[in-house]
Amino acid sequence: MRKINIGLIGHGVVGAGVVKFLQKRQNYIRDKYRVEFVVRTICDRSIHRKDTRGLGAAKLTKKIGDVLDDRSAEVIIELIGGLHPAKEIVTTALRRGKHVVTANKVLIAHYGKELFQLAKKQNRQLYFEASVGAGVPIIKTITEGMVGNTYNRIYGIINGTCNFILTEMTKNKLSFTKALKLAQGKGFAESNPTLDINGMDSTHKLAILAYLAFGKFVKVSDIYTEGITHISHDDIAYAESLNLTIKLLAIAKRYENIVEARVHPTLIPKVHPLASISGIYNAFYLNANPLGDVLLSGEGAGQMAAASGVVSDLLNLASRGADANLLCNLYSEAPNFRIRKIDQIKTRFYIRFMATDKPGVLGKITSVLGRYGIGLNSVTQPAHTAAWAVPVVMLTDYTLEKNLRLALKKIWELPIVKSKPVAIRMEKLW
Ligand code: HSE
Repeated sequence: MRKINIGLIGHGVVGAGVVKFLQKRQNYIRDKYRVEFVVRTICDRSIHRKDTRGLGAAKLTKKIGDVLDDRSAEVIIELIGGLHPAKEIVTTALRRGKHVVTANKVLIAHYGKELFQLAKKQNRQLYFEASVGAGVPIIKTITEGMVGNTYNRIYGIINGTCNFILTEMTKNKLSFTKALKLAQGKGFAESNPTLDINGMDSTHKLAILAYLAFGKFVKVSDIYTEGITHISHDDIAYAESLNLTIKLLAIAKRYENIVEARVHPTLIPKVHPLASISGIYNAFYLNANPLGDVLLSGEGAGQMAAASGVVSDLLNLASRGADANLLCNLYSEAPNFRIRKIDQIKTRFYIRFMATDKPGVLGKITSVLGRYGIGLNSVTQPAHTAAWAVPVVMLTDYTLEKNLRLALKKIWELPIVKSKPVAIRMEKLW
């Protein structure tokens, strides 16, 4: 029986989940893999307020140094999230010859390149399966399961909280605030849920996926990010009547040496498999060459989902040993990639205006769109209850984002338009 000593830093929702998971599966892991994980030290800044029953013989501490100084610990699990001191913890652990398992998407998105290089230099492993998709094994799918392919497109529903909120708003007509509170109560949301709902959590995860798929770390600041706070029940309902569903999508596409990476609410056809991914489920729709399309989905947030990702890293580490070079740690910069800015992206749009109810209104709006070369696929005036204005919903043809923005600015200046135009991008996905 091999014994692997572990130091755990961060005993929040996920940290507590990892301890619970290891305890529950102890016999199974021992019998099947002939390995025993011993959590030697647990560090948490508010460990004194935590329920520490069931933590066995583990030393409990508030000092990070107590974990890093434990010479017997082969693996450090970093689960405090954020950039600092997480970066210093991971760096120190690797320099001291320890392997690291982390679920920290912010850290890998910002410093992955540097940390992978350090891990390689130190001949140690840096595992991060739970950083994207929690329990859904997307990191291993891209870097191992589908290795040998090149990736053309990734469409991901990669924030469980946002998917849960949009699902609740759509199916149960819950308000945004109520749905968010529910997600927080269930432990899906980040401690600061702003990162979930403003799209940044998805952006960090997309930066990691783009690196794994395209061999290039797209800077977080180069990823166009729009969250879900402005999505209204009206737009959800109008979209439904057009057989479309709103999802917060993380999109990465590669056209030879150009990469597009963006996160925004997106209208997708209801018949597409991604449209049926609901609640806290995450999903990844990958297009690879020569394989084709792959859809992977499952619980993308929550205590046991994230703990499952962390434990799978521990077991991989135990079975491969120290010398195996992880494919996901082998950073090799693809030198000629250029990032396509959001203004230069061509896509279709759902646009909605609240306009005065009189003849000639549509003509005025379409004439502005025409001036910017924006063609229309459909125009509808959905049933409504507002007395002050009527909704006009249009689906455009493929258009340059920059032109659409300029046109909407002009349309908003028209006296017949009574509220700021709404625009939601559409993706065909196939
Ligand atoms: N807050 C994240 C989410 C947790 O809602 O998806 C998993 O990374």
